[in-house]
Amino acid sequence: MNFAQKIFSVKNDNRKTHKIITIAGLKLKVKRDGIQNLKQKIEDYKIMHDPSLYVGIPNDITLQLMFNNDCNCRCKFCNNYMNLDKPREVIPDKWLYEYFKPIYNKTKNLLPCYGEVTYAKEGYEFLSYISQNYPHINIFIETNGIAFNEKWRKLAVENLFNVNFSVNAIDEKSFKKTVWEKDGIYTLVHNNIEKYINALDANGLSAFRPSISSVLNSTNYQNVEAFVLMALEWHLQKIIFFFDSRENNINNLSVKDKENFDKALITLLELEKLLKDKVRIGFRLFMPVKNINEYEEKVKDISIDELKEKYSKIWDLAKDLDVYKTYLNRLEVYKAKKKKVLTFYEYLTGVTWHQKVYKDKSVCENAWNHIRLRPDGRLEICAWRGYRDNYRIQNFIEKDKVNFIKLFNDLYHRKLRQNFIGGGYFGCMKNCPATRKLSQAEFSRQYCTNELLENKLGR
Ligand SMILES: C[S@@+](CC[C@H](N)C(=O)[O-])C[C@H]1O[C@@H](n2cnc3c(N)ncnc32)[C@H](O)[C@@H]1O
Ligand code: SF4
Ligand code: SF4
Repeated sequence: MNFAQKIFSVKNDNRKTHKIITIAGLKLKVKRDGIQNLKQKIEDYKIMHDPSLYVGIPNDITLQLMFNNDCNCRCKFCNNYMNLDKPREVIPDKWLYEYFKPIYNKTKNLLPCYGEVTYAKEGYEFLSYISQNYPHINIFIETNGIAFNEKWRKLAVENLFNVNFSVNAIDEKSFKKTVWEKDGIYTLVHNNIEKYINALDANGLSAFRPSISSVLNSTNYQNVEAFVLMALEWHLQKIIFFFDSRENNINNLSVKDKENFDKALITLLELEKLLKDKVRIGFRLFMPVKNINEYEEKVKDISIDELKEKYSKIWDLAKDLDVYKTYLNRLEVYKAKKKKVLTFYEYLTGVTWHQKVYKDKSVCENAWNHIRLRPDGRLEICAWRGYRDNYRIQNFIEKDKVNFIKLFNDLYHRKLRQNFIGGGYFGCMKNCPATRKLSQAEFSRQYCTNELLENKLGR
């Protein structure tokens, strides 16, 4: 035994069931799996004491509240649809008006979602309270538009809500096929969108026109082009498609009706290329294919002139639009209204995923500042990671208050931060756009603005 081994050594015992640890002549006998635990404990201790993984309470929190699980629609594709017949769940008032109060001043974005927030009276009360008392917060709502009546319109216009209407169809017939068989709903939603756009325009807020979205699946793959055309007829500059995460298996990356899926994806890539700088076409969530590069290769060599000809109606409506200018118009209003300012990237992508530069690397920011919360208290950092049963807001309640410092800086958050920095997105959605390691500037350049504009504006 050399000198170093005398000071510290670890060996198996004769039966290999234990390890013998020698520290300065003192011998300790520890079970083999105890060593693993010990190692883990040392690792955890290091993580808990690494100052670079500590954030206190961040100043730019995104609060994604899975607000209520009830809804006035019955979309055939809905992930929550199965919950809709279960007992009603809504985030308790005590949490909204008492427990979360200390973080509203540090909250940048608020996203109530889950069922249909416009259908819940608590939703209107809460968003009115936030608008009145914390006007700096950017409120994002996703709505089916059915109950988006005058009262909601007024609240949304006055407080510069970021509204996405989940339209999911191009006409009554396709609505019935893809969404819900009920008569008249499509027209009702259409009219509500039009009234909202008119109200924004009347208040000089055209830059705050909503986005519209469609779930894409084997019932409507052929409608992509018509959906974009419909959005452009409303002069909308954000058009979002969600590949149906229920029909396809985004873990096995398998697709139903691959032939039409392929056609739809190529159309999306072509439109993205044609409308770059003009309109944001989002479609990279729930992407059920292994290698989107193979599809990107197919559109790489198609010239813009060819695309202008192929999509001439779309081009006519889009050619004078400029998504970055629209963002700059918004910026003026945000500043005048003292809102926490959204970056161009946030405006383009919405705020369910973020990018931050950390030690020169671009990483998903959700592990630093995003809270997703269900009415039963389950917590996560993102909508696209599964909940763990025992990880709840209740675990952080001390003396009838939430200890947010503990919450934001516990072992779970710190480990995720460490993993994300190292490029490990274990437990995250496959193909999540946030794992692409694109900086905000690079993202904007690839998907929206041309380089020249970015350089000129010094971003
Ligand atoms: C679950 S909904 C909740 C908000 C609101 N009720 C609505 O429909 O907009 C949020 C978004 O998820 C989309 N969605 C629902 N089911 C989906 C699925 N199976 N795959 C992908 N997106 C889906 C909806 O179209 C909507 O845009
Ligand atoms: S409106 Fe939204 S919550 Fe309601 S069933 Fe449709 S997708 Fe689901
Ligand atoms: S990388 Fe993970 S945490 Fe970030 S948005 Fe994607 S799924 Fe969510």
